[in-house]
Amino acid sequence: VIDIDQWSITRAVELANARGQDSRIVHVVNALVRHLHDFAREVRLTEQEWFEGVRFLTQVGHITDERRQEFILLSDTLGLSTLVTAQNHSKPTGCTEATVFGPFYVEGSPQYLNGEDIANGAQGEPCFVSGMVRGHDGRVIVGAEISVWQSDSEGYYDVQRPEIDRHQARGVVHSLPDGRYHFKSLLAAPYRIPHDGPVGRMLEALGRHPWRPAHLHFMIKAEGFETLITHIFREGDLYLESDAVFGVRSSLVTHWVRHEPGRTPDGKTSDEAFYTLQYDFVLDRSTKE
Ligand code: BEZ
Ligand code: FE
Repeated sequence: VIDIDQWSITRAVELANARGQDSRIVHVVNALVRHLHDFAREVRLTEQEWFEGVRFLTQVGHITDERRQEFILLSDTLGLSTLVTAQNHSKPTGCTEATVFGPFYVEGSPQYLNGEDIANGAQGEPCFVSGMVRGHDGRVIVGAEISVWQSDSEGYYDVQRPEIDRHQARGVVHSLPDGRYHFKSLLAAPYRIPHDGPVGRMLEALGRHPWRPAHLHFMIKAEGFETLITHIFREGDLYLESDAVFGVRSSLVTHWVRHEPGRTPDGKTSDEAFYTLQYDFVLDRSTKE
């Protein structure tokens, strides 16, 4: 095809892609091309703006390494992560809702027994977390693998602190024979997503803040059930309505109860104030055999 103009270019690219072996790839790329071309026509993209876009994506690539995933941050802040999570995890009523994964999960986190302190030296007010894991039919799930990760009281994950060389405020526990889980950790704080890179500059240009409301991350795996990736949020948090990555679901917001110094759920005594929070998870049946 020759003499291509701003309108016929879209069809020309689709024709050029037609011999691809994998029909799903061809379908996805062609849809992307159609939307990209429509976008450029709609905003009448200038050459200067096109070049700025290329520069922006180049910066996103340059700042990305094993510790920093700026592309995921871009997807999160543009709402794409929440869209993809929502359309792939619509669950029956009664099941715990899923939300974004985020960039701070670490494979191979330490295993703990129920009741143990997963803070592992991270600083913050004590927080005792407990609840049940059930299936959609109401039956308790025994031995579910519960991975937890959270920020410290200053809003940082262990992986964001170069001086920390061990896992803190993250770990894995398994649900007990009665379906219960419980562990000690510390009070999670609202935090700013990494905003010293191109995504931070984008948020600034759009008049947006980088804050996320305080939350605990959970990933729960159990045989015969769909893996659940979700958060628990804190009732009353300033940023519930304006989460920088659009991850809040009202069903995931719970009351974190403050207690004066005294006896704690683990039978010990705390000479500082502490918190308790309780959340029951309900897993959906797996669609896989
Ligand atoms: C998080 O909650 O860990 C997170 C999610 C999306 C972007 C940045 C952080
Ligand atoms: Fe987080």
